[in-house]
Amino acid sequence: MARSALLNVMVQAARKATRNIRRDFGEVENLQVSMKGPADFVSAADRRVEQALHQELERVRPGYGFLMEESGAIKGADQSHRWIVDPIDGTTNFIHGIPHFAVSIALERHGELVAGVIYNPIMDELFVAERGGGAFLNDRRLRVTQRRELSDAVVCCGIPHRGRGDHALFRHELARVQAKATGIRRSGSAALDLAYVAAGRYDAYWERGLKPWDIAAGIVLVREAGGTVSDIDSGRDMLQTGNIMATNDALHGELGRELKAAQTASSARQAAG
Ligand code: IPD
Ligand code: CA
Ligand code: CA
Ligand code: CA
Repeated sequence: MARSALLNVMVQAARKATRNIRRDFGEVENLQVSMKGPADFVSAADRRVEQALHQELERVRPGYGFLMEESGAIKGADQSHRWIVDPIDGTTNFIHGIPHFAVSIALERHGELVAGVIYNPIMDELFVAERGGGAFLNDRRLRVTQRRELSDAVVCCGIPHRGRGDHALFRHELARVQAKATGIRRSGSAALDLAYVAAGRYDAYWERGLKPWDIAAGIVLVREAGGTVSDIDSGRDMLQTGNIMATNDALHGELGRELKAAQTASSARQAAG
């Protein structure tokens, strides 16, 4: 596969920024882990990778804006382009020695997501997609699965943790999906969850309360692999709401109906006190 110049610079940045990540992963006790909020961690590796990505992307595309998890928003002279960056998606996995985390880089042009790169440096799995150009894993073309019913599907989800999210609603959602699906997974990296839907490893995925950097690159991947990705509750912008579901076309309706029924049951339960 001949990669575009844009994807090449994104891939180079991801590889360069993670050059020392295997070493850091093995020496996590030296990584000055601190808490940003309840069960929300950051390490020196997150900051180092983010700084390296910022430097490299600014060098190759000077003036683009940035939205990054650890440093926030940086306005660029070029108002029409913005990088959306998560240096390590799956920090909790990373600091617990679980080799499932990734760098996630997306490019937005005039407010539209046009390219995404998600790189798992431990597995050396590189997921890339550009609008109109397809989605690839290490140069192999990706397609979402063909399964048509939840009863045949492996469904991944995110679980709200201490101090965050609507736990009661999640319990209703899980109960409904669990009753139907073949299996449920929770991986700890939203970016990889979306990449795995694109790769046909998971049939479906949903999670609430995410940030733009968790999902921007993954959205491009799922779309380019022929999948459907949307806000869970409405037609609103997923990057704003942070509530996302991603499936193949056939499963979107069924998963959406289950999640809606869960929402109704949870609200009724709350109203009843
Ligand atoms: C987290 C991961 C996780 C999701 C959390 C995110 P981080 O990102 O994507 O899967 O459930 O909500 O915050 O903090 O590891 O970059
Ligand atoms: Ca984080
Ligand atoms: Ca993240
Ligand atoms: Ca992160």
